[in-house]
Amino acid sequence: MEKLVIEGGRRLKGEVEVSGSKNSALPIMAAALLTDEPCVIENVPKLRDTLTMAKLLRTLGKAVDFENNTLKIVSRGPVSHVAEYKLVSTMRGSFCVLGPLLAKLGIAKVSLPGGCVIGVRPVDLHLKGIAGLGARITIDAGYIIAKSKRLKGNHLYLGGVFGSSVLATANVMMAATLAQGVTTIDSAACEPEVEDLANFLISMGAKIKGHGGPQITITGVKKLHGTTYRIISDRIEAGTYVLLAAATKNNNIVIKNASLTHLMALVDALQQSGIRVTQDQGKIYVKSNQTLKPVSITTHPYPGFPTDLQAQFMVLMALVPGVTVINDKVYPDRFIHIAELNRMGANIRREGTNAIVQGAKHLFGAPVMASDLRASAALVIAGLAAKGTTEIHRMYHLDRGYEDLDSKLQALGARIRREKE
Ligand code: EPZ
Repeated sequence: MEKLVIEGGRRLKGEVEVSGSKNSALPIMAAALLTDEPCVIENVPKLRDTLTMAKLLRTLGKAVDFENNTLKIVSRGPVSHVAEYKLVSTMRGSFCVLGPLLAKLGIAKVSLPGGCVIGVRPVDLHLKGIAGLGARITIDAGYIIAKSKRLKGNHLYLGGVFGSSVLATANVMMAATLAQGVTTIDSAACEPEVEDLANFLISMGAKIKGHGGPQITITGVKKLHGTTYRIISDRIEAGTYVLLAAATKNNNIVIKNASLTHLMALVDALQQSGIRVTQDQGKIYVKSNQTLKPVSITTHPYPGFPTDLQAQFMVLMALVPGVTVINDKVYPDRFIHIAELNRMGANIRREGTNAIVQGAKHLFGAPVMASDLRASAALVIAGLAAKGTTEIHRMYHLDRGYEDLDSKLQALGARIRREKE
């Protein structure tokens, strides 16, 4: 196991490059199961999660070559329909092989993903959508078994208690590309990563309209062909660096290969606090030259404030004098980072589904524990902003979703190093 050791309080400056989107890459890799022809996917971040998905595709029978952020996925014989527990349990995103396997093979046996620290993470909407396309679904020994000779298009509603579901929309949209007839998904997820997946499927010959909006229409086709496709950059990684620049009061960090188009909720919240975030030719600039005001946020499905930036935003507000209320409508329990931030001198308490942040002038370095991907990113920001040294244990959480984060931050002048636990 490794830990990250950070000396806080240093002036950071320079350019940081955003990698390809993890949450685009995972469903798009699964979509390659919909064809026997080769798929080349560019701008794929080399992460624990994309390496896990590559391993899963290999166990399913695909040959996967992953070089310089480009994936080459080709068939090398019949594809298995079984996605094993040992892989799916390490990364719940692999559950999105269900739709493609079922559509391509007429059968899929996929392990139910476990929960994780941010919530129970049910899959009822995935199953509702797949059943809505005519699949017969049984559950056996922790596996979902879905069968259907030929899926049939249908008008489906995929809204849940917490709003739309990103990967349920992905699973059903992928399955519908090979179904007989037209499928309409109401209350579809509008995330840019869902739009990116739809564009990938269209490049394979799928017929999809309305993607990126709450109603997506898919007209089934008999077959999909191979393709070459470049995925979008990671808006959550970009947003993490925007909040890092703001929290460490560094006005000279330039974030490359990113667009604010998909980050307007964050830009708006920061504007209210007194931080100007602008972009020019694919580069993002963060400027804050005044005393910041506390700003309360509630997370929602896209285009609302992203839950994946909630922890990072909390760190900024922990450093802004005044009271902020933070509520996560997507994952109401996604507050495991509160205890760790309080160890660093933050003053945050839970009140029901709210986190009440009493901002202070400084945080102080301390040994802390990473718990989930985005909470770990928040601890890195806190460590860079704090006075003194911070040790972040269980680094593997970070490596799941941030490509070379420590070397990218070292290039900005951060004193940050990996050490064996
Ligand atoms: C995706 O997860 C992302 N992961 C998550 O990012 C992200 O936090 C989440 O969307 C929300 O934006 C990937 O894309 C790989 P959901 P997903 O289904 O699709 C409930 C990260 O840090 N729900 O949109 O699994 C669910 O419990 C990760 O990169 C149901 O009730 O999330 C949650 O409250 C963390 N039933 C809400 O919907 C279902 O069948 C949104 O979840 C499915 C979900």
